[in-house]
Amino acid sequence: MDQHSISSIVSPIIHSLPDNPLRDALTEGFHQSKSQLESIESGFKRFADKRWSPMMTCTFMKSWHSTHLKMLPIYGLTCRLHRLAKTADGTARDHYFMAAARNAETSHEDLNLDGRFELNHAQLYDEMANALCNGDAWYSEQYNLPEAAEFKVWIRDNMIEQDLSIGLLTNMFSEIFNHGEYTYALEHFNNIFSQHYGYDNHQCQRLSIYIKCHVTSDVEVDHFHCCIDALDHANQAQGFSMDPTMVHAVSTEYLDRMSRIMGSLVRLMDDEDA
Ligand SMILES: [Fe+2]
Ligand SMILES: [Fe+2]
Repeated sequence: MDQHSISSIVSPIIHSLPDNPLRDALTEGFHQSKSQLESIESGFKRFADKRWSPMMTCTFMKSWHSTHLKMLPIYGLTCRLHRLAKTADGTARDHYFMAAARNAETSHEDLNLDGRFELNHAQLYDEMANALCNGDAWYSEQYNLPEAAEFKVWIRDNMIEQDLSIGLLTNMFSEIFNHGEYTYALEHFNNIFSQHYGYDNHQCQRLSIYIKCHVTSDVEVDHFHCCIDALDHANQAQGFSMDPTMVHAVSTEYLDRMSRIMGSLVRLMDDEDA
């Protein structure tokens, strides 16, 4: 797999979808956000350049954390679908229940439901960040960039407060983007662990589990397909069809917000180097 850009990682997955408005809207969304994707990639490349100050490392790890681990919004979206199922009849009721089940599946690995690892995903992230930041000081809000804090609120608002389709599309887009992002970030983080922190191979393997577990076994790709299925069931329950304009709007705003976070992190790293 070509892992030189997030686009080249996600493209085969998107192209393997059936020929429909979703595939075209996602292709267009990634294509139009080329500069935003480059900015996101620059964040990981720059962070892997050297060992940064504790302040910079904490800021990176806290802000990146704010863009992941969205179990509460997934749970909220699943509850919304359950509530709709309870008050619906016949096939609409079945479709809402199936949408809820498929949406909830995107949190199974995060929760370590099958016990594949010693820790759940939130704990794995903590372990990785604690190692890079020499303790858990990074968790303090003082290290959260405003853009990152806003991103977290935006995700929660989209999935819990906004139109149901926007919620499901937000979860879906995060899964395909995360597949590309984690795959791209893995090599950079491996370099950080080994070259800048001097961890041995065993320690590097352990610290990279958080990122690697999303990439191996195509966990995020499977979640992406769960979300498409959830959206399809919710659309059938509501008598809607896929809205390409909405797909495009969610995709481009997601990448725009991510690129603003990474752009600010790169500026902070440039300032520290100046
Ligand atoms: Fe996860
Ligand atoms: Fe996921």
